Amino acid sequence: MAKRISLTRYLVEQQRVAGHIPSELRLLLEVVARACKSISQAVNKGALGGVLGSADSENVQGEMQKKLDIIANEVLIEANEWGGHLAAMASEEMEGIYVVPNRYPKGEYLLLFDPLDGSSNIDVNVSIGTIFSVLKMPEDDRGVDEGDFLQPGSHQVAAGYCVYGPQTTLVLTVGDGVAMFTLDREQGSFVLTQENVRIPEDTKEFAINMSNMRHWDEPVRRYIDECLQGKEGPRGKDFNMRWIASMVADVHRIMTRGGIFMYPWDKREPNKPGKLRLLYEANPMGWLVEQAGGAATNGRQRILDIQPTQLHERVSVILGSKNEVERVTSYHSTL
Ligand code: AHG
Ligand code: MN
Ligand code: MN
Repeated sequence: MAKRISLTRYLVEQQRVAGHIPSELRLLLEVVARACKSISQAVNKGALGGVLGSADSENVQGEMQKKLDIIANEVLIEANEWGGHLAAMASEEMEGIYVVPNRYPKGEYLLLFDPLDGSSNIDVNVSIGTIFSVLKMPEDDRGVDEGDFLQPGSHQVAAGYCVYGPQTTLVLTVGDGVAMFTLDREQGSFVLTQENVRIPEDTKEFAINMSNMRHWDEPVRRYIDECLQGKEGPRGKDFNMRWIASMVADVHRIMTRGGIFMYPWDKREPNKPGKLRLLYEANPMGWLVEQAGGAATNGRQRILDIQPTQLHERVSVILGSKNEVERVTSYHSTL
């Protein structure tokens, strides 16, 4: 029988053999994975656990919160605040940063997360997930503040997501490619099910919310219009479309079989650069996609090179199969 490699063993080997991660970071990732396991349990119970429905509150972005948005946020904070490896956390569901309370030792890492991605899918039993990103405190920093989080995505030391779908799958990078782990519910552990994930460079599948078409900018319209013309059009091939409305699930499909995902800037709210958040959605996903051989831009610039100026900053996102992302990006400079 093939040897089963648990997440714990994978991380120990990343630390020991490959020398990629310090032990503090390994422990931090173990704790994040444990929190995801517990969120997965809550998601699984659904109506039986009383976790469905709205929480009757709004987050800082003016979005209605679901019960699970709040539960997942609390699970991640409670799991991570006492371990001694973190200085502070930031989340989609909290306006300011969460500094590790003084009663616990502080470490040198910063954890950012979208505790529950795809909130509109919770109540309809469609895949949702958790996205996370790990940064290091800038050196010689005495006290942690919001400014410490404003680092470009290229500074991430770990990033990942956990998708709660037919299977619960944790997808992780520490800068040495992308590995996937499937939750074995009987054993209660994540087991390595794919290493060296590679996104095919070409694809015939795009993911975008087509209902916003009339609001898009010209380069995105041109790209989708050419896809829609299929075999008879300039691309000379038929395209397929998918839109799950959970970034985690759309990105997971792209990680598995390729594709391009876009949530571009649009004219509905011209002052907003996009819908998705840079620090805890676009950066971790952008790095994972790059680590799997794909590309991620905002149409004009590599996502990971963007210098953030705000914790909840939004960004236009184009990511996935390299040749398609490069094509859409090139349309932005020619138009
Ligand atoms: P969240 O649930 O964390 O607010 O994120 C939802 C995001 C993303 O997951 C998804 O791709 C997108 O919003 C869906 O947006 P539309 O409902 O506009 O399609
Ligand atoms: Mn999200
Ligand atoms: Mn969310």
